[in-house]
Amino acid sequence: MNIGIILAGGSGSRMGSDIPKQFIDIYGKPLIIHTMESFDVNSNIDYIAVVCKSDWKEDLQIWARKFGINKLRWIVDGGDTRQTSTYNALSAIKEQCSKDDIVVIHDAARPLISQRIIDENIIRAKEFGAVDTVIPTPDTIVNSKDGQTINNVPVRKELYLGQTPQSFKYDLILRAHENAFKTNNFDATDDCQLVLNLNEEVNFVTGDKLNFKITTFEDLVLLKAVIKLGKLEVL
Ligand code: CTP
Ligand code: MG
Repeated sequence: MNIGIILAGGSGSRMGSDIPKQFIDIYGKPLIIHTMESFDVNSNIDYIAVVCKSDWKEDLQIWARKFGINKLRWIVDGGDTRQTSTYNALSAIKEQCSKDDIVVIHDAARPLISQRIIDENIIRAKEFGAVDTVIPTPDTIVNSKDGQTINNVPVRKELYLGQTPQSFKYDLILRAHENAFKTNNFDATDDCQLVLNLNEEVNFVTGDKLNFKITTFEDLVLLKAVIKLGKLEVL
């Protein structure tokens, strides 16, 4: 079984809108519905779990019905951090999961995820147990510890930008989260870090530039432009 876990428990503070960014209307549909549709139509995904703040659960249920999302099976309460939100989802699906089932963990705030990325995540997670989605960085990345002066310029070809999904065998990611709690680590922004902390390898698939995360207002403008130009044609 392959389960898409969509993380929508954040408040979108960097966007600064009156509602969390994942619920902003984009051409007649909440942003998260665009994300959920990509999972709903994917023939390798069996079920979807969404994590969100409890105030939004009812709206989400209504939208899922209205927009014909068929695979939504769990709506789970979010936690204070992304890490605890993920853990809440893993706990909620535990009874229905066996250890080799695949979870594809994705930010609700990345609505332009392609079918290729979902498919490759599932294939590689089955083979390797843990997989990240990354793109080579087009720009040189500069390291500064004090935010004023440059400490060093790491070699660009060794640097990638992390996206989501991050996908795992169920048993491995559950162990990684339990280990994180044991070591008082509650605020990881990334599930792969937690697997690396178990000294397990993490493979990766190549993402794409359009799978960017909606973080600030400029990203909303870009998202709308891409959808207007024809999401399906571009992807
Ligand atoms: N997320 C979550 N639970 C949290 C925090 C974040 O499920 N407690 C989700 C967000 O909803 C988002 C994804 O994790 O889909 C990536 O997080 P981010 O882009 O940082 O979203 P926010 O935390 O909502 O935004 P900000 O950091 O600007 O407040
Ligand atoms: Mg955040």
